[in-house]
Amino acid sequence: MNNKIKIGIVGCGAIGSEVSIFIEKELKDKAILWGVCDKDIKKAENLVSRLKTPPRICEIDGLLKNVDLIIECASIEAANYLLTRTLIFKKDLIILSVGALIGAKKILEKIEKYNVKIYVPSGAICGVDGIGALSLGKIKKITLVSSKPPTGFAQNKYLEKNNIDVTNIKKETTIFKGNVKQAIKCFPQNINVAATLSLASLYSNIDVYIKINPKIKRNIHFITVQSDTTRLTVSVENIPSKINPKTSNLAILSVKYLLKKIFFSFCVGS
Ligand SMILES: NC(=O)c1ccc[n+]([C@@H]2O[C@H](COP(=O)([O-])OP(=O)(O)OC[C@H]3O[C@@H](n4cnc5c(N)ncnc54)[C@H](O)[C@@H]3O)[C@@H](O)[C@H]2O)c1
Repeated sequence: MNNKIKIGIVGCGAIGSEVSIFIEKELKDKAILWGVCDKDIKKAENLVSRLKTPPRICEIDGLLKNVDLIIECASIEAANYLLTRTLIFKKDLIILSVGALIGAKKILEKIEKYNVKIYVPSGAICGVDGIGALSLGKIKKITLVSSKPPTGFAQNKYLEKNNIDVTNIKKETTIFKGNVKQAIKCFPQNINVAATLSLASLYSNIDVYIKINPKIKRNIHFITVQSDTTRLTVSVENIPSKINPKTSNLAILSVKYLLKKIFFSFCVGS
């Protein structure tokens, strides 16, 4: 029991709930879910009530002091807070709100010295391993086209500010063209994949297109990469999570798979 790695979850929504259940069931010999945290206490209570060995409900700092590994599945704001504290508390982090890492170059440069690990799961896309490998050569250009049904854009402030009512969109419409930083600013909850591509490709030139399509039921990401040695095309069509339609089911599975890679000896894919 004492040798088990203590894990803390920040954010008890679509990803945090599923990952907590996975830790309890699949990692029980290697880890314990020590505590969970959510700014909405009801979400935390609801999650704890679903677990056989209920973890503590605590504040973020309580987790930072007591656990070995924190899984952030909350928001860019929560990820930013954890990133500023991780070097002080020397805790490993899994970050889902990947946009936070784009503005955290200085922290990323320091983590090696502090012997802290920060993991970014592949999330809602595939091919991140290949893009990471290609970053060691020369990537010329990456294009990302993300299309989602209107429900994937509920309560988006950028759309509200531009008087775009997603319920009035009747055919496929491009609502954004730009670079990764702009995409994250306008769609912080929708475009983690752009941030993941940017980090994996060591900040290559990426054109991001975001589309709303009322005729689709899946979240679709189409990625093309041109490098000096390789042309890569990835198309992913994801079923959205029932709890949060902005989140693809694959993103939840990718965290579970990353945990398997961290905790078990045999691991496939880089
Ligand atoms: N990397 C990827 O490919 C990928 C894919 C999907 C979602 N995400 C990101 O992962 C995060 C979680 O997604 P989700 O679908 O589980 O969201 P969700 O809305 O279902 O759950 C998020 C939970 O975090 C809580 N929360 C928000 N800010 C908080 C804070 N500062 N402190 C404590 N709790 C806080 C909310 O109350 C909510 O219960 C989001 O930021 C989302 O954008 C990343």
